[in-house]
Amino acid sequence: MPGTPPPPQTTPFTVRAPASSANLGPGFDSLGLSVPLYTTLRVTPQATTQVVPLGPELDGTPADESNYVYRAMQLAATRAGRPLPPARIEIETDVPLARGLGSSAAALVAGIVAGNELLGRPLDDLAVLDVAAREEGHPDNVAPALFGGIVVATLDKLGTHYVRLDPPAHLGVTVLIPDFELSTSKARAVLPKEYSRADAVHALSHAALLAAALAQGRLDLLRHAMQDYIHQIWRAPLVPGLSDILEEAWKHGALGAALSGAGPTVLCFHDTREPTAPLHAYLHGVMKRNGLEGRVMDFPIDTAGTLVDRDA
Ligand code: HSE
Repeated sequence: MPGTPPPPQTTPFTVRAPASSANLGPGFDSLGLSVPLYTTLRVTPQATTQVVPLGPELDGTPADESNYVYRAMQLAATRAGRPLPPARIEIETDVPLARGLGSSAAALVAGIVAGNELLGRPLDDLAVLDVAAREEGHPDNVAPALFGGIVVATLDKLGTHYVRLDPPAHLGVTVLIPDFELSTSKARAVLPKEYSRADAVHALSHAALLAAALAQGRLDLLRHAMQDYIHQIWRAPLVPGLSDILEEAWKHGALGAALSGAGPTVLCFHDTREPTAPLHAYLHGVMKRNGLEGRVMDFPIDTAGTLVDRDA
């Protein structure tokens, strides 16, 4: 019936949202890909609201309605113009926090999708993306977290627009995740307020080339296309070893390298047909030279994005 709001969800369900790596070099605030580490919510409709963070990664996060996931659920209700039904919400994550892997975007998207599901799905995907992008201020983490794959997205006063790309064949990622946190606000505070026209042209031409190269599977162009002078040079002092990796990783098998989001994680692309051991050895060596601890891991690019399991 037109105009009748959908009935709220009354049975338990699970929402799983992936991590993401934003920017990919020159695609500042506009380009990202989805990484298979997950934030998972188990939502059980019941008479009262309970927020239950679980696991070591979420130690110290609020177990009440001030939790970011719950606030994200409320954003869905606000956009839908309806009150959020009460529920028990269990939250787990294996996305490392404040490392440039989109932990807040995964929490935000999982929460908005869960709130929308609890309300009976009044919002379509584009509305969910728009709510998430406006809350985060840029769409480059939330779009791949929602849709999976590689996403080019813009946010402006006319709305949020995106194109999702399936990852090219044979493209994998290697991430160096240092054992220290770097807040996005600190990493944004070091950026200049203005850029020259030469820097703007360099950025837009390389971002456009990168998007086109990813769309056509031109892995040979990634290293060149991933050059960036908008954010990485300014953030390099906050991430020991970053400048070396950007310059040298290709000699050790990387197809291209970039700071992941606002850092401190560094992302390298690799060809899945080639061994990554030389790249791992190089990245561990960079950490050692810089007195850093951390992990080096290989991942495929997640293609599923955020999933809702209603039979859980
Ligand atoms: N594009 C953002 C930045 C991603 O680099 O600041 C971090 O959330």
